[in-house]
Amino acid sequence: MLTEELQRQADNFLMKTYTRLPLSISRGRGCVVYDHEGRDYLDCVGGIAVNVLGHGHPDLVAGLEHQVRQLIHTSNLYYTEPQVLLAQALVEHSFAQKVFFCNSGAEANEAAIKLARRYAIQQVGADRHEIITMVNSFHGRTLATMTATGQAKIHEGFGPLPVGFRYAKLNDLSSLEQILNEQTAAIMVEPIQAEGGVVVADADFLKQLRTLCTERQILLIFDEVQTGMGRTGTLFAYEQFGVQPDIMTLAKGLGGGIPIGACLATDEVATAFGPGVHASTFGGNPLACTAALIVLRVLLENGELARSRVKGDYLAKGLAELQSRIALVQQVRGLGLLQGLELSIPGQHVVLDCLTRRVLINCTMDHVLRFVPPLIIAQSEIDQLLTVLSDVLRKRQLSQM
Ligand SMILES: Cc1ncc(COP(=O)(O)O)c(C=O)c1O
Repeated sequence: MLTEELQRQADNFLMKTYTRLPLSISRGRGCVVYDHEGRDYLDCVGGIAVNVLGHGHPDLVAGLEHQVRQLIHTSNLYYTEPQVLLAQALVEHSFAQKVFFCNSGAEANEAAIKLARRYAIQQVGADRHEIITMVNSFHGRTLATMTATGQAKIHEGFGPLPVGFRYAKLNDLSSLEQILNEQTAAIMVEPIQAEGGVVVADADFLKQLRTLCTERQILLIFDEVQTGMGRTGTLFAYEQFGVQPDIMTLAKGLGGGIPIGACLATDEVATAFGPGVHASTFGGNPLACTAALIVLRVLLENGELARSRVKGDYLAKGLAELQSRIALVQQVRGLGLLQGLELSIPGQHVVLDCLTRRVLINCTMDHVLRFVPPLIIAQSEIDQLLTVLSDVLRKRQLSQM
């Protein structure tokens, strides 16, 4: 189907939950995707921080082809090797000792919220059910996780919302201390608020949270749905802040494009989940776990993670250079290959200008351009991105004068 026809049919049959760009993608290779007319685009969105190995990575394709022939799905009533091997690999490379698998970021956070509440209620008492999250956070779209999300626009029209959520300001301990109380079960935070405009948490703030949580028997949850799986230059972002959570959630990059989420916890906290307490039909199915095992192997054993660090620094330097010469650029923020460029104008025009130049980028919080390319992006592709951005921003700047 050609792009225009596809767009018409989408209008006819899909609920209008997304504002889509005028592009339909039919295939991809590496960091490049192709539309239905065969035109190529440099993909610096990567399925919004999902396609960490790019498109069509040979190891992922071969491994999935093999697994499809072996076994696509079975039930969690039985054991499967990929699920156990993946849990073992995640445990070996993180603070955690136990893993629960699901299918998305929202579900991983839903599991984290349930686990934290159940643990706190069992360990401390029935009143301990509140979760504190941050203003401008993003944790998902299920009823509990959208309530956890500290953005009024996401809550609108869905009341009554689940009770037991309060919001503090990121990097502001006193705002948190004001709402902390005897009912606080957990504090949930993204090391970088990615949907919230690529805002990096202060290491000191996270350390203070850790101390406070330990002293008051409160659980610390890191939502690493977007920052995990090498996105920030280390396998998990928390490694760079010198702070370990009690629970961590993953999704997005975990399966390199195959849907999978995970909720990781310490042994002690994981005891709150016993048989029949929480479940997911598809959670940790053999196909998804095979994908995640391959992603981990390529990142860690093939050295892609180490290479992505160098490329993240290169991109950050290039963006800082743009800031030094283009007044529209207010700030550059981020870690590794999660970078944001705050503009003084709405970013969506720039996204469309870049699309015309066949480069895909994304905008969040109206004014922040977000760059989350595949971790395998080549330096020459980063140069291509920077050249197009520079042209587009300079033209926008001139048109503002
Ligand atoms: C930090 C964070 N948590 C949770 C989610 C929700 O993930 P999903 O869309 O897979 O449910 C997202 C999605 O953008 C996210 O960035």
